[in-house]
Amino acid sequence: MHANLKDQIALVTGAATGIGKAIADRFAANGATVFYTDVSHAAAEEAAAKGGGRALALDVTKPDQIHAAMRTVLEHCGRLDIVVNNAGINTHAHRVTIDEFPREEWDRILAVNLTGLYEVSSAAAKIMRPQRSGRIINISSIAGVVPLRLQCAYTAAKAGVNNLTRAMAIELGKDGILVNAIAPGSIVTDGTRELFYSEGSLFHENAQRMIDHIPLGRPGTPDEIAVAALFLAAPENTFTTGHILVVDGGWTAGYHRDF
Ligand code: NAI
Repeated sequence: MHANLKDQIALVTGAATGIGKAIADRFAANGATVFYTDVSHAAAEEAAAKGGGRALALDVTKPDQIHAAMRTVLEHCGRLDIVVNNAGINTHAHRVTIDEFPREEWDRILAVNLTGLYEVSSAAAKIMRPQRSGRIINISSIAGVVPLRLQCAYTAAKAGVNNLTRAMAIELGKDGILVNAIAPGSIVTDGTRELFYSEGSLFHENAQRMIDHIPLGRPGTPDEIAVAALFLAAPENTFTTGHILVVDGGWTAGYHRDF
């Protein structure tokens, strides 16, 4: 899929690897000037060098870094057209019920997945509203649509992302800003390799059981999410806003069973 993003200025959070990198790469390949931002500056630099973009250090839990990044974008490009809120984390060690879920882990996950997304979106909207144009694309999760067990913080944060997406869409639509979310199903990235998809990973023995629930019979790839992001960012998309685009191989389409 191709879209003409020439002259578009894009900023992607958590772009050093996985889904964020695939989105940044696809935007760059379609002509956008892309700022690859990540908590790890070195990793962002490496990704940006390969993808043909620019790198910035940006920890979404640090408002001073968010504002510095926005200033840099404006100094270099004078505008900001597309923001992708991709940075996100989940718990590895604490797959437990809510009564055992540590408060510190709740705070850590909410700080990145929800409050960080709010901070970046708020800073972006300050630039986009006077421009009277812009796209904000939030990477949510199917966990925000259909709750998953033993991940209370992640599930709550992603559900928050979905309704915040809709709230921003209705607040910012009159200023020409389109706000949408993508809710990926299981996607093979460094994060999920550590959890499911590599030999010796934490829940490797459960991976096939999970895949059995996906009608397409496999996890997705980061580029399959990047295609959805490209559609939402494309100039041809002029009327889709406030939408949660589920990209999950049919996982949440219904209960999958053989009888
Ligand atoms: P990943 O773990 O492979 O990469 C995440 C990136 O975000 C890393 O480069 C990391 O350095 C960066 N990051 C972490 N904390 C950050 C912070 N405070 N500030 C800035 N950057 C930070 O993750 P993956 O799998 O590519 O996921 C990306 C997004 O997609 C996340 O929001 C995740 O919740 C969501 N998602 C992923 C799914 C999957 O199966 N991989 C499924 C559903 C949603």
